[in-house]
Amino acid sequence: MASSKTVLSAIFTASLCFTVALAFPAHHEDLHPVVQSPPKPVLSPDYYKATCPQADEIVVSVLKKAIAKEQRIAASLLRLLFHDCFVQGCDASVLLDDSEEFVSEKKAIPNKNSIRGFEVIDEIKAALEEACPHTVSCADTIALAARGSTVLSGGPYWELPLGRKDSKAAYMKLANKNLPPPNATLHRLVKFFERQGLDKVDLVALSGSHTIGMARCVSFKQRLYNQHRDNQPDKTLERMFYSTLASTCPRSGGDNNLRPLEFATPSKFDNTYYKLLIEGRGLLNSDEVLWTGRDPQIAGLVRSYAENEPLFFEHYVNSITKMGNINPLTGYDGEIRKNCRVVNKKI
Ligand code: HEM
Ligand SMILES: *[C@@H]1O[C@H](CO)[C@@H](O)[C@H](O)[C@H]1NC(C)=O
Repeated sequence: MASSKTVLSAIFTASLCFTVALAFPAHHEDLHPVVQSPPKPVLSPDYYKATCPQADEIVVSVLKKAIAKEQRIAASLLRLLFHDCFVQGCDASVLLDDSEEFVSEKKAIPNKNSIRGFEVIDEIKAALEEACPHTVSCADTIALAARGSTVLSGGPYWELPLGRKDSKAAYMKLANKNLPPPNATLHRLVKFFERQGLDKVDLVALSGSHTIGMARCVSFKQRLYNQHRDNQPDKTLERMFYSTLASTCPRSGGDNNLRPLEFATPSKFDNTYYKLLIEGRGLLNSDEVLWTGRDPQIAGLVRSYAENEPLFFEHYVNSITKMGNINPLTGYDGEIRKNCRVVNKKI
């Protein structure tokens, strides 16, 4: 048990320190000595400047070939960033195949028979390994591929912070939990984004990614035949558009038939997506509710982006940068995978 003398002297010492600290206010941090932990490195656009200055050029050259072969791959690669970042952060967990330790995120409901682009990521990563061995992470490869795909589709360029490391596991259950379903209500979409530290502006701007790419009938069929468990179509669907969709997607069967998410300019990254929402010609429920969901701020953003493409691009750049910064592994956390599909072998 501490004697009262020791306690008194401790109090005296503490108050002396306090007085000294007050006398030197420039050192006010010292008033709150916290447990020392080394500062966490932050992502930086110059991360590979010394070690792989040609990284982006390599990515873009592989992308150009892949997009020339198949336009849609640009959309698929952009989506990979979303499905990576919303599940435990942007750590390339989405790229891992099944292993003895974990089940692949590729088997989660939102990804199954849907997410694609892994072969192109493999090709990019192989080219990066050849030029700069063991240097560029798979997580950064996804981010570079997403930015390059956006730019090559006519969308905006953004300064891309780099230096992410790769996870040593995949999180299938978290993918089921964190990735929003296409029939989500607006209220729930907002919640899914809030969970990632993203706001309503981010939701509306990032949904504009659906200006490129395709969706399967199964992702929007509920709107055609049974929107509210009433065997009726979604009343917010424009009539002609409804007929077009119904002819691609019959009531039974055809679940894997494809429709462009934005049918007017499906491979150009532009603001047409928002113009179509206002006309009742958004494809997914999660798209159309941005306009019809009775949230004045959200609907107002849809109108602004429909009328002002530069504003959409400006907000998009800001929001996709935020998304790309979700919970990265940095410094000594994680690893740089050699093969993006498997964690490195323990040595
Ligand atoms: C707001 C919530 C979102 C929902 C509910 C959603 C849902 C979906 C669904 C259901 C598909 C079609 C999948 C299929 O039928 O196989 C899709 C495709 C796509 N999504 Fe989203 N998404 C959302 C947000 C985003 C975001 C934030 C991005 C990117 C930053 C994105 C990028 C894409 C792209 C580019 C495609 C087309 C992919 C391809 O053609 O391969 N989505 N999304
Ligand atoms: C969305 O679709 C799933 C799967 O088909 C279904 O279980 C769920 O009830 C639907 N949610 C809404 C809000 O319609």
